[in-house]
Amino acid sequence: MHLLEGEKVTKYFGGLAAVSEVDFYVDEGEILGLIGPNGAGKTTLFNLISAALEPKPGVIKFRDEQINGLRPYKICRLGIARTFQTVKIFGNLPVIENVRVGSLFGPLKGLSTAEATKVALELLEFVGLSKVAYTPARDMTLVNQKRLEVARALATKPTLLLLDELMAGLNQTELLDTMELVKQIQKKGITIIMIEHVMKAIMGICDRIIVLHHGKKIADGTPEEVANSKKVIEVYLGEASDAGS
Ligand SMILES: Nc1ncnc2c1ncn2[C@@H]1O[C@H](COP(=O)(O)OP(=O)(O)OP(=O)(O)O)[C@@H](O)[C@H]1O
Ligand SMILES: [Mg+2]
Repeated sequence: MHLLEGEKVTKYFGGLAAVSEVDFYVDEGEILGLIGPNGAGKTTLFNLISAALEPKPGVIKFRDEQINGLRPYKICRLGIARTFQTVKIFGNLPVIENVRVGSLFGPLKGLSTAEATKVALELLEFVGLSKVAYTPARDMTLVNQKRLEVARALATKPTLLLLDELMAGLNQTELLDTMELVKQIQKKGITIIMIEHVMKAIMGICDRIIVLHHGKKIADGTPEEVANSKKVIEVYLGEASDAGS
């Protein structure tokens, strides 16, 4: 049984098939990369998995149970958490409160506020933000706001974590740190699907990669298989400025 599986997952916006008949799966423990040119449908696929949108037609199963049609909060409580390409933090709230929201909201059994604070502090330490725990979230750099979203998502105790362009705009040191962070999350036993344009990160840490183009899946394989796919080179890697870097 796959942890997450999609069958013929499709989403139209008007006449445009943003995601078109995509079959996919991710197995427990994997880091799956999701790549493709701008507008390929990657974020839309995350929106379909996290139930911000509903596939039509198509089926998405988590641990063999159909989850499409459920409300987003149910998806979260089943153990699927996400971050956003365009950060969606509570900017006026201190960093720690952003994470406490995740820990108080997510798990089925309610935590006390003291327990939620403890969890939040541990997670801020884990993502490297403990020094700014009491800073208003909006005052942080974008890089740190993205890390904050990771901590907030982890606070809901996910089995599966969806990361949408966590590495965008990082310098080399930050990139290596963030790659290490993602590997540490995998070591906690959390399965990951990551959307990235940064090829060094994708090729360096993914176990398997799916490539979307115009809403369709055009490749699915190991980093080596995908990097050598003529079709992928033609539509994506050949034009990506940082391919292979
Ligand atoms: N809410 C929406 N309403 C209408 N069209 C949308 C909506 N969301 C996405 N689209 C369109 O669907 C297509 C896929 O968009 P999506 O954001 O999923 O691409 P992406 O692969 O994440 O691209 P990027 O790498 O630029 O983030 C694009 O043509 C986009 O304009
Ligand atoms: Mg996107």
